[in-house]
Amino acid sequence: EDSSALNQQLLTWYDHNARAMPWRVSPADRARGQRPDPYRVWLSEVMLQQTTVAAVTEYFQRFTQRWPSVQDLAAAEDAQVMAEWAGLGYYARARNLLKCARVVAQDLDGCFPDSYEALLKLPGIGPYTAAAIASIAFDRAETVLDGNVERVMARLHDIHDPLPAVKPVLKEQAGLLTPPLRPGDYAQAVMDLGATICTPKNPACGICPWRSPCLARVAGTAPELPKKTPK
Ligand code: ADE
Repeated sequence: EDSSALNQQLLTWYDHNARAMPWRVSPADRARGQRPDPYRVWLSEVMLQQTTVAAVTEYFQRFTQRWPSVQDLAAAEDAQVMAEWAGLGYYARARNLLKCARVVAQDLDGCFPDSYEALLKLPGIGPYTAAAIASIAFDRAETVLDGNVERVMARLHDIHDPLPAVKPVLKEQAGLLTPPLRPGDYAQAVMDLGATICTPKNPACGICPWRSPCLARVAGTAPELPKKTPK
């Protein structure tokens, strides 16, 4: 099956099944031309590193009520931000968050850069976060690779080589599927698929938008993928 048919199946599923999250734009608002706010996309993606959507949501609401813009966050006292962050863990992330907010507010006129390369230069923004912001906030065709995407790709193509060595292959497959139109929705759709249907245990293959092209479903190997090199 060609990649545009796969994209269409997934994006149509996402249009009906996207999980509501406070940093996302609803389909209705999207239809009116609203775009995600790069500040909110950045804040959510930094919070989501090593933390679940459910745990992040209330922190995200508190941060954005207290500091609605990157300029507001940049002007905050370090101790106030660290106190709001308490409980999320990985405190280096909070320090880099403030550093990044101050660079964007002071050096970039409050505007996040819109390319992967420029985002990657900011404090606390690595390959995953740069690709997530470029695609979700700016609709750049960058490929987001997290644990969900790795699992979905390994199953779709029935790839049995173990992680971490197989990562570049999974990244290449994810890249081949990244569409020129709506890459941000596509990235979030793969993540939602991995979180809700293509789950590590008991995947719900019967209701998956990719059930017909999925090679692991045909082979019956979905629950055992991706393989991992034993420690
Ligand atoms: N995990 C990290 N970022 C996400 C996003 N934007 N949507 C769904 N799951 C995510």
